[in-house]
Amino acid sequence: MTNKMAEKDNTMEKIVSLCKRRGFIFQSSEIYGGVGGVYDYGPLGVELKNNIKQYWWKKFVSDREDMIGLDSGIIMNPKVWEASGHVGGFSDPLVECKACNKRFRADQIKGDKCPGCGGELTEAKDFNLMLKTYLGPAENTATQTYMRPETAQGIFVNFKNIVESSRIKVPFGVGQIGKAFRNEITPGNFTYRTREFEQGEIEYFIKPDKAESEKQYKYWIGEVKAFYSEIGIKESSLTLREHEKDELSHYSNGTTDIEFDFPFGTSELAGIAQRTDFDLSQHQQFSGKSMEYFDEESGKKFLPFVVEPSMGIDRATLAVLCDAFDESDGTDGREKGEITLHLKPRIAPIKAAILPLVKKDGLAEKAKEVYSATKSCFPAYYDESGSIGRRYRRQDEIGTPFCITVDYDSLKDSAVTIRERDSMKQERIKIAEINNYLFEKING
Ligand code: GAP
Repeated sequence: MTNKMAEKDNTMEKIVSLCKRRGFIFQSSEIYGGVGGVYDYGPLGVELKNNIKQYWWKKFVSDREDMIGLDSGIIMNPKVWEASGHVGGFSDPLVECKACNKRFRADQIKGDKCPGCGGELTEAKDFNLMLKTYLGPAENTATQTYMRPETAQGIFVNFKNIVESSRIKVPFGVGQIGKAFRNEITPGNFTYRTREFEQGEIEYFIKPDKAESEKQYKYWIGEVKAFYSEIGIKESSLTLREHEKDELSHYSNGTTDIEFDFPFGTSELAGIAQRTDFDLSQHQQFSGKSMEYFDEESGKKFLPFVVEPSMGIDRATLAVLCDAFDESDGTDGREKGEITLHLKPRIAPIKAAILPLVKKDGLAEKAKEVYSATKSCFPAYYDESGSIGRRYRRQDEIGTPFCITVDYDSLKDSAVTIRERDSMKQERIKIAEINNYLFEKING
């Protein structure tokens, strides 16, 4: 391993350790030894992830006139997955070691021997990634169904319901955030590849026209990229990668991935695909129900084409944490080894910490007043224990952008000192101005 690679590996270990220590992300069922490929979001993690989801919803759904939302079920009629191509085509080639019985993805190993024990491998067999479950007391093929492997199909099967109930006109999009499940053979890299995860997906319905599809495809690549910048990811950490023809999913006529420079390598964050009318026409065929859209303008009926921007919410959260993570080398005014999470204020779990300089002489009471007024508008935290420097460090480590200190002067001038996390600059402002100040900094 080169020094640079070892350093990056080490960064990932530090991020995982911070996530556990400060309550961002825990291994699922840890007291029982965990379960492969599932993670739990702790008190700070759930706030961070919710803020990312809320910003996604605001940018892509509520702020736009051409977008509406949906929350469809995780369990669907199994025919959905036959029509979508997932029963037949959603699989990875798998080989098994004849000696130790470990399984590997055939496309991820080099040579023809087991990477674990060197044993002989079986021929590659396709392994379907959908998680099966049963509805009702009998467990047989008649009651078998699946946990959805993507949220997208909930949108396609509701296409008619949505158009008829909302009277929205093409071009329009439907956005959905929700859980998806895949029986990944090789989950790994913390929350990057898991078996239970969340997706934020948009199906954008347009006229069935190749040139229009190309135009919307380019537009949505730009919008998704902008989303990552707006939640704080540096432009320089992102790259676009267009799929080769032989790499395209069964439904796609063109896909571009947005990739992020993770400490473990450059990997996919989101995909933008031209799904044409593949899904609507499959559902029309399998269900026997018309999925056609009536265009009032031209008086014609057609199956719309679809451009799909799809992203993993857990991957966005992990990318945000990796991009924000910073361990001081001791030359930036902080002590060597001190950790700061440079989270964008809009997605930081806690926006402001209220700290009395000391507990006595009425400062704690005054600080609690400030805390209560701030908390009514923003997620805030009150901390009176330990030295002020230690309290700043505890907040820097979880990405709190502002620390508000109540000191002796506050009792006389009704003002406080606000310290900004990244620059560590301090300014004095009136208590009555705190909420306006925070509003501008968080939403500006
Ligand atoms: N509807 C299209 C679709 O599902 P995908 O590329 O298979 O396309 C979309 O998944 C996004 O979902 C990916 O870009 C990734 O961010 C996220 N994702 C996929 N599999 C994942 C996994 N096992 N763990 C975490 N996120 C995953």
